[in-house]
Amino acid sequence: MPRREAHGEPESLISFRDVHKRFDGPPVLDGLNLEVASGRTTVILGPSGAGKSVLLKLMIGLLQPESGEIRFGQIRVDRLPERRLGDIRRRTGFLFQQGALFDSMTVLDNVSFPLMEHTTLDAAARRARVRETLQLLGVSELMDRLPAELSGGQRKRIALARAIVLRPECMLYDEPTTGLDPIRSDVVARLIQMLRQELHPTSVVVTHDIPLAFKVADRMVLLRNGRIHMEGGPEAFSTSEDPVVRAFLDGHARDEDLEPTDTEAAA
Ligand SMILES: Nc1ncnc2c1ncn2[C@@H]1O[C@H](COP(=O)(O)OP(=O)(O)O)[C@@H](O)[C@H]1O
Ligand SMILES: [Mg+2]
Repeated sequence: MPRREAHGEPESLISFRDVHKRFDGPPVLDGLNLEVASGRTTVILGPSGAGKSVLLKLMIGLLQPESGEIRFGQIRVDRLPERRLGDIRRRTGFLFQQGALFDSMTVLDNVSFPLMEHTTLDAAARRARVRETLQLLGVSELMDRLPAELSGGQRKRIALARAIVLRPECMLYDEPTTGLDPIRSDVVARLIQMLRQELHPTSVVVTHDIPLAFKVADRMVLLRNGRIHMEGGPEAFSTSEDPVVRAFLDGHARDEDLEPTDTEAAA
């Protein structure tokens, strides 16, 4: 696959080359080629079960492919032993669907957790970094609360604070708006955009939420049958006459978006 810098576009941080992944049934990824441009936001779309979450896990070595190459920067992720993956995970922030906070720990301790694991900062320095991160997200007053004392939207922000507290060069979002109403979904979209302006991470957003996709994407990728069905800018998608793309953009997302699917919706 041609590297993008040849065309004046940013180079890739993450690349997949002819990646095959299956579990028990039919292949989930069937010869996937994908380039994730450095410093940009790539949105991965696709029907439920298309392999979007699997794709994110492959990027950071939480799963291994049967064959193919996966690179993160210069590193061959698909070949790295588990103990060497810490480096990639330290450079990457995740906001997963069940962005679970530790219930018995305060917001401060939850957001400090990656700092305890990966840095030698002392308690005062950790607290300062947590405060700065919460301020960025507009929730510094929540520092001493417990998760049970937070609303769903606040919990999302705290999970996001924890994801960015190490100032990762890469952010991975897996269905970040699932279970949120449209107003809170819009807040998440604005947070993703704000982080992009402040921290310039390479971002991958997996979502069913079409409005979110159009708000944050530099590039969009539609995954289907284990491969890329279409990739391009938001304009190319919005004007596409491809029937699969149209069906997906015009109809697919509605029910799932509106239906609360996790406990956060109740908060
Ligand atoms: N750890 C696993 N073990 C077995 N099957 C899995 C595992 N993870 C994902 N799958 C299967 O792989 C397919 C793609 O899953 P996933 O990536 O979660 O889809 P989605 O696009 O909805 O995120 C599904 O059929 C799912 O059941
Ligand atoms: Mg998924």
